[in-house]
Amino acid sequence: MNARHEAPALDFIDLKSQYAALRQTINERIQRVLDHGQYIMGPEVQEMEQRLAACTGARHCISVASGTEALLIALMALDLKPGDEVITTPFTFAATAETIVLAGARPVFVDIEPDSCNIDATKIEAAITRKTKAIMPVGLYGQVADMDEINAIAQRHGLAVIEDAAQSFGATYKGRKSGNLGTFGCTSFFPSKPLGCYGDGGAIFTSDDTLAQACREIRVHGQSARYTHTRVGVGGRMDTLQCAVVLGKLERFDWEIERRLQLGQRYRELITRSGAPVHLLTVRPERDCVWAQFTVFVKEREAVQARLKALGVPTAVHYPKPLHHQPAYAEHCCAECCPESQHAAARVMSLPMSADLTDAQLQHVVSALVEATRG
Ligand SMILES: Cc1ncc(COP(=O)(O)O)c(C=O)c1O
Repeated sequence: MNARHEAPALDFIDLKSQYAALRQTINERIQRVLDHGQYIMGPEVQEMEQRLAACTGARHCISVASGTEALLIALMALDLKPGDEVITTPFTFAATAETIVLAGARPVFVDIEPDSCNIDATKIEAAITRKTKAIMPVGLYGQVADMDEINAIAQRHGLAVIEDAAQSFGATYKGRKSGNLGTFGCTSFFPSKPLGCYGDGGAIFTSDDTLAQACREIRVHGQSARYTHTRVGVGGRMDTLQCAVVLGKLERFDWEIERRLQLGQRYRELITRSGAPVHLLTVRPERDCVWAQFTVFVKEREAVQARLKALGVPTAVHYPKPLHHQPAYAEHCCAECCPESQHAAARVMSLPMSADLTDAQLQHVVSALVEATRG
């Protein structure tokens, strides 16, 4: 394989081809909203919520303004008190820990498994104290964490589980859907996510009627009826237009998930066969990874990234620093306490991935990777 011959610049995430394939449906969906003019809580909001609840199997879906808002509102529904603790991973996007702090609690970081990069469930119980109220695992890169083990721990200690499914929406775990694997599932419709809109959006899933009602109220400034503010809430609604975009994207979402699984498999086969000094993420039995990011482990990452860039292959790092090394969160954990997260943060590198990546483009990326890791 030689990467040098034709190297048209690749998009890291190809949203243009996706739009080209769905142009008519999305345009029609948007036009309908422009015609009826109900930009806030229009009929598409409920339609999307019903469709997505059915997709995951959860009884309720509450659409919200973003994935961050989804986590925050779910945490607010738990009525956390100052000093309460929520256990999570430090190897995630900042929103996971940020919302715990915003909800008035303290994030307690538990290290990750080095091969899957998800929270190490075997280390959770040792981190539980009298103040622990919830566990917030993240389905990093598109593969959910050990949810059965985590739910069993939560049940033993009377804790809630908030599944951060921002990257794993569409993935399955033992035949069940990500988003419906804890007390709450929270996802993001940020444009680059497996199911994205054309701006910000998110959703909370739960099968608990009381918690669902609390989330619906918190989403609209804590109102249980118009101008009756029963609790403190936020302005957290998702725009009707963005719900219309998600509805348009649902048209081929199953195909996209299938394609992501195929592309992930193809990447893994080609990289393994190439013998390039690149380590692959472990995907555990009885679950899949929808590859929100196709992430691998490499040494001398910056040099490899620079060579890939010269070969027309964009890359990204999810994430260069674990949260317990970020100034905003360092006070919550000793610097050496999560060595696996630190190790992963120094080596992870994400390659182009989207359902519209062609087989030829994928081969080009792998050829370039071989060349770039040769030095
Ligand atoms: C793991 C994780 N949690 C939460 C979020 C927050 O989602 P949003 O960007 O929609 O607020 C993201 C998005 O980047 C994420 O990757």
